[in-house]
Amino acid sequence: MQPMITTHGLHMPKLGLGTWKMYGKECTDAVGRALAMGYRHIDTAQMYENEGAVGEALADTSVARADIHVTTKVWRDNLTPEAMRRAMEQSLKLLKLDYVDLYLIHWPSPTMNLPESLGTLVKLKEEGLTTNIGVSNFPVALMKQAVEEVQAPIVCNQIEYHVELGQAKVLNYARSKQIAVTAYCPLARGLLGDHGEISKIASKHGCSPQQVALKWLLDQEGVAAIPKATREASQRANWEAQKLQLDDSDRQVIAGLAKDHRVVNPAGFAVPWD
Ligand SMILES: NC(=O)c1ccc[n+]([C@@H]2O[C@H](COP(=O)([O-])OP(=O)(O)OC[C@H]3O[C@@H](n4cnc5c(N)ncnc54)[C@H](OP(=O)(O)O)[C@@H]3O)[C@@H](O)[C@H]2O)c1
Repeated sequence: MQPMITTHGLHMPKLGLGTWKMYGKECTDAVGRALAMGYRHIDTAQMYENEGAVGEALADTSVARADIHVTTKVWRDNLTPEAMRRAMEQSLKLLKLDYVDLYLIHWPSPTMNLPESLGTLVKLKEEGLTTNIGVSNFPVALMKQAVEEVQAPIVCNQIEYHVELGQAKVLNYARSKQIAVTAYCPLARGLLGDHGEISKIASKHGCSPQQVALKWLLDQEGVAAIPKATREASQRANWEAQKLQLDDSDRQVIAGLAKDHRVVNPAGFAVPWD
């Protein structure tokens, strides 16, 4: 059994497969191969334009639907009740599913009416179209608003998090409310290959820097990670990383690294992170 995060009704494998920039047959094949390898958590989004390709793999696999966790997300332009409902219906149709396991607001928007958007998520949950609801790219101030003012039952915040980016504030708040954190760009988008300190830890354990970076996340309480891996070799490496045993001296070195490298900060709609 894979390590899971279980909280507020969420039961999600800590290691998932990210699918951004995977399209068509390459995406279907990659998701199908990952499921055959043992992955049981797939991350997609309306904006990725690959829900149809992911859906093909989900339809073809022999793995039971109940054993797979599927997350998808509604884009920030579709946060009115009508648009969100349309997006959900379209996502389910493309994914060939009756429900998803987790439905997230992909990015906050300055024009959104947060209580209304979260209220719509709650309705979709009550109707059984998604088992759980959550957010993505929400800094602490917005999380607080969602949880304390709106009292929305969000179970997860998906944020950029990796060895080169600190997320203590979001993590502390999420943990105080037993909200899971899913780390996106867990490999800093593959940029870790020539990272000196991480490479030294990797040499010590006879593994790759990416495996070290991934296991560092997976070892953390309440944290899941969704590396995107199209190639079989990287899917396998990430799966095998679950067995790696990092020690306190490794964690000390990683804690001492600069933590200000944000990979995803889209011009025009990035939010104030602090
Ligand atoms: N919520 C959001 O706003 C948001 C934003 C960004 C991403 N995400 C989600 O998070 C997922 C992951 O983030 P990401 O795709 O941006 O970056 P990432 O997972 O940090 O990095 C992906 C890159 O690393 C490579 N890779 C994977 N495993 C490797 C390994 N073991 N060794 C060496 N290279 C490896 C991949 O190569 P190959 O594919 O060629 O194998 C790919 O080029 C996305 O796919 C998406 O599902 C969410």
